[in-house]
Amino acid sequence: MIIPIVAYGDPILREKAVRVPADYPDLKNLIADMFETMYHACGVGLAAPQIGKPMRLFIVDLTPFADDEAHAHMKGFKRVFINAEKIEESGEDWKFNEGCLSLPTIREDVVRPASITLAYDDENFNRKRETFDGLIARVSQHEYDHTEGVLFTDKLSPLKRHLLKGKLNDIAKGSVEVTYPMRFPLGVKLRR
Ligand code: NI
Repeated sequence: MIIPIVAYGDPILREKAVRVPADYPDLKNLIADMFETMYHACGVGLAAPQIGKPMRLFIVDLTPFADDEAHAHMKGFKRVFINAEKIEESGEDWKFNEGCLSLPTIREDVVRPASITLAYDDENFNRKRETFDGLIARVSQHEYDHTEGVLFTDKLSPLKRHLLKGKLNDIAKGSVEVTYPMRFPLGVKLRR
């Protein structure tokens, strides 16, 4: 089932999400719905707050990056991160042009450290600890931030954020063209 994606301006995107208990009802279905929703919107990552659930859960599938030969190894890199905890970020800062399904029309270069170590439960609640780098780190950092109530625009300079104000207000109002269903905080309509 495709779930409408929560747009910028909804307070749920600013909440610190809560831990997911192993007996959370229908978790497998929720995860399947998240993948369906993400693929439909052509995203490479999606966090539960973006579908209106303030839970520490996010998914990634980096397969679309594999179209570029340099990233061929990312084909089929698909993960479910439950109760992810950031152990550390390290390496050199680098810039990458990020976007977010909750902030359609906005893409900006964001600076983040090269790698991240996360402890997390997989979909079977086996606790794992892994270090990621490159684009895998980048997408994981972005999605992890969603579970902390942080958006990529928070990482921009005050000037850049100021320049984006109009666009962000338009998104909150639903004055934006999107190719997937969204839920806008200042508009009651669901847009397709
Ligand atoms: Ni995002």
